[in-house]
Amino acid sequence: MKSIIFYRSSYRGNTLKIAQSMADALAAELVYIDSNPSIDLSDYDLIGFGSAINFAAHDIRLQRFVSSQNLKGKNVFVFSTRCRPFLGAYHKPLRKIVEAKGGIIVGEFSCRGFDRTGPWVLMDGYNKARPDEQDMFRARLFAEKLRLKLHPLAHAHKNPVEGYSDGVPIRRKGSDIIAGNKVVFLNTSTCINCGKCIKICPMHIFALKDTVLPTDEKNCIQCRLCADNCPTSSIYIHESFLNGLRIALRESFSDKLQNSYNAENNQY
Ligand SMILES: Cc1cc2nc3c(=O)[nH]c(=O)nc-3n(C[C@H](O)[C@H](O)[C@H](O)COP(=O)(O)O)c2cc1C
Ligand code: SF4
Ligand code: SF4
Repeated sequence: MKSIIFYRSSYRGNTLKIAQSMADALAAELVYIDSNPSIDLSDYDLIGFGSAINFAAHDIRLQRFVSSQNLKGKNVFVFSTRCRPFLGAYHKPLRKIVEAKGGIIVGEFSCRGFDRTGPWVLMDGYNKARPDEQDMFRARLFAEKLRLKLHPLAHAHKNPVEGYSDGVPIRRKGSDIIAGNKVVFLNTSTCINCGKCIKICPMHIFALKDTVLPTDEKNCIQCRLCADNCPTSSIYIHESFLNGLRIALRESFSDKLQNSYNAENNQY
């Protein structure tokens, strides 16, 4: 998924901290709008816009920048840092601009940021040390969730199984053939059989049959190394509470995970 984040952070660098956490999680390009960027957005799957809240709305320069973009059909998220404890309607003006430019809002994030303007001078600033580690963690989590939500196979686990190939359940999504059952899903129509997932998976989940398939997904530990390294974004790991619980139980009460980890796999 190709992502880009545009931001402005002119007061204390508060918004930049948040933007950086999100960019790390999304492997996104991070662009400061004061550099007058002229970037063709047609190639991007996800676009983020963020700044401080100044006078009850996003930074006016960010608003003007967004107004000058063509966002038709684009997935967009907006974010901010602010002084006030609650967000209220602060995002509304930017949201309206995004929508007027044809963008689709897929997520919003805001957290508190240090402010030593106006009355806050009297107490040497409000929201001291914010955004802090927890805010940056929350920003990262927000971006990770967005990445999972927008993955082309995100809803594969809800599709009915239609058949089996080498014991692996198969389903269809449009013209794509998706292998997998509950945790590891692989789009066999876009997979180029490069073998990277076979090599990188510590649990030896993938095997080369007629094509590469996830053969033993019960032992997947949800590390996402396969999905993050697949050159064609053909793999989706369905993270859920139940999957987490299953891994914890398997680890505590059996040696199946260790055995899977210790297995040999020399197919590539
Ligand atoms: C000119 C100005 C206006 C501000 N107006 C608001 C406001 O209306 N509501 C609010 O919650 N915070 C307001 N703040 C606080 C900033 O939103 C907050 O400090 C923010 O984290 C700064 O981010 P930055 O360092 O990325 O610029 C204002 C700050 C400045 C400098
Ligand atoms: S890494 Fe991706 S493209 Fe390569 S074999 Fe695995 S699923 Fe297919
Ligand atoms: S998430 Fe990790 S354990 Fe699961 S299939 Fe991918 S690489 Fe293997």
